[in-house]
Amino acid sequence: MTRLGTSFWIVLLLHAGDCSEENINGCDMNPCMNGGVCENQDGQYKCHCSQMSYNGHLYGGPYCTVILLGCERHWCQNGATCYPYLDKGRHRYSCICPEGCTGTKCQTSTAFSFEESGFMQVQTKLTNAFEPLNVTLSFRTLQAAATLLQCHVEDQFLMLELVDGRVRHTLQRAQDTESVFLELPPMVSDGHWHTVKASLRNNMLGLSLTDPSCLEDTCRMEVQIDRAEPDLGSGLSELTVIQNLYIGGRGENETASGFLGCMRDVWLDSLIVVPGLGLRSPAKQLNVKQGCSDWDRCKENPCQNRGRCVKTGWRSFSCECHRPYEGEHCLDEYVAARFGSEDLESYAVFTVEDDPGDSNTVSMFVRTRRSQGLLLVLSNTTSQYLRVWLEDGMVKVQINNFESLLGSETVSDGHFHLITVLVEPESLSLFMSAKSQGRIPIRSVLVQAGDAVYVGGLPDRRASLAFGGYFKGCIQDLRINSRRLQFYPVSVPASSYRLQSLMKVTRGCTGDDSCTNNPCLHGGVCYSMWDDFTCSCPPNTAGQRCEEVRWCELSPCPSSAVCQAHTQGFEFQLYN
Ligand SMILES: *[C@@H]1O[C@H](CO)[C@@H](O)[C@H](O)[C@H]1NC(C)=O
Ligand SMILES: *[C@@H]1O[C@H](CO)[C@@H](O)[C@H](O)[C@H]1NC(C)=O
Ligand SMILES: *[C@@H]1O[C@H](CO)[C@@H](O)[C@H](O)[C@H]1NC(C)=O
Repeated sequence: MTRLGTSFWIVLLLHAGDCSEENINGCDMNPCMNGGVCENQDGQYKCHCSQMSYNGHLYGGPYCTVILLGCERHWCQNGATCYPYLDKGRHRYSCICPEGCTGTKCQTSTAFSFEESGFMQVQTKLTNAFEPLNVTLSFRTLQAAATLLQCHVEDQFLMLELVDGRVRHTLQRAQDTESVFLELPPMVSDGHWHTVKASLRNNMLGLSLTDPSCLEDTCRMEVQIDRAEPDLGSGLSELTVIQNLYIGGRGENETASGFLGCMRDVWLDSLIVVPGLGLRSPAKQLNVKQGCSDWDRCKENPCQNRGRCVKTGWRSFSCECHRPYEGEHCLDEYVAARFGSEDLESYAVFTVEDDPGDSNTVSMFVRTRRSQGLLLVLSNTTSQYLRVWLEDGMVKVQINNFESLLGSETVSDGHFHLITVLVEPESLSLFMSAKSQGRIPIRSVLVQAGDAVYVGGLPDRRASLAFGGYFKGCIQDLRINSRRLQFYPVSVPASSYRLQSLMKVTRGCTGDDSCTNNPCLHGGVCYSMWDDFTCSCPPNTAGQRCEEVRWCELSPCPSSAVCQAHTQGFEFQLYN
């Protein structure tokens, strides 16, 4: 040191009094290596080693010269960042957890979900009753209105909630006539994570949101609250106050505004709240589940029979079923009604109970092998104004004895077909499945309460014969508009017209045993199919009933003759 320098330090020591001789400004010598920054503290120096890697290493130690090895083998989980440091010369590390994790190794998920009327109650000891709230939490939900958190401290009532899809923080005090609230503009009920911070301290009510959609200061609000000195009750004057905090609801018997969704990283002051974790487990909880993975119930494919699943909210869904299926999971199938079993003359009658008007859709599944038969008649006391029957295996519809429309595709193939008749004020259309079979102009018909719906035939035999006779086959899931006409009610409550009578109709869709009288000729073997049969014919016979004999193949002719088959036999011609 130079003489000048020494005299300077003497001056300084005189002023500083009890400082020792080592208290020189060490930072002058720039002792911190590898990017470390030197800080002068009361004449002492301290190196703040670079948090960035330097030459591929992180450094520690008093001069940032020791390569930190703590993270060479570490157990940080869930994508946590390892942070190495030196502790009394030993290499150690700590894990810096990503969102949603906690624990020394970030091994614990902080996420949990609330189900119907779920809530969590946490008791905290307040050391300063004037600053009762400092909470940060992340949530995800589809609800537009719900209670995220509420607490009561003496005469103060604080609530963090969702109102119209936005976060709101409300303070209500006994002495105030009106409550004070803050509300932030972004919409947060979108099923994504949002992080909110709510506080009441230093007489400021605060609310902020950490969100990518936040511009500048739009997601941070504070308002000054009058100090509530005169109303400080006996409890507030004491140092500690027990505070009950409700998360995700308002407690046991208040289910109306319960939160349905997930929360994670719920911090009360500097303590994290995780159900089931020792550190600060809730005093009471109901319908709270750890984790937040299974909220999309549609991922479990709950809809059967090709039904479409639609998310309708938190852990809730609805199935859009394909006909003839129904029910929460599309598991209930409308019971088919069998008409003309063993060629009996059968029909069903329903009564229309409302006034559907002049726009109506009549639809049903039809299965038959017959090319004719009466399917449905709508009638009032004066006329049969809508008739649907089979003609040449196709569907024919007639309005008011006049206009009629014939389908273009065959239904009588033994398979189920969805037939839809659309009667509008000025037109009539026919569909098979979704395929249009034609459309004609009509004069409107009115369906009214008290009208009768005949299915499969009419009580009057001759009237039925005029439209192809009684139907033989099955009808399933018959509807007029959305009203069902159920022959055999299924368990699901569906609004159905009243069944008035069921004549010789049977449940299900079993076909007749067409083999009973063995229709196969010439020793053919009969196999029963639905309302049909097939014959396994012996060699040299053909036809549906093996009625054709291929006489010539039996080689009845001399080898020099040519055989010629006829329906009733054969002849052979001899050539010279
Ligand atoms: C909630 O209601 C149940 C039954 O109605 C009752 O036993 C219980 O004491 C109530 N709890 C609270 C906190 O009011
Ligand atoms: C509020 O809580 C955060 C943790 O969420 C903590 O870091 C902060 O120090 C707390 N503030 C006060 C004033 O207690
Ligand atoms: C029966 O229906 C036809 C066609 O909609 C209608 O013209 C007639 O007035 C109805 N009769 C009665 C009594 O409602």
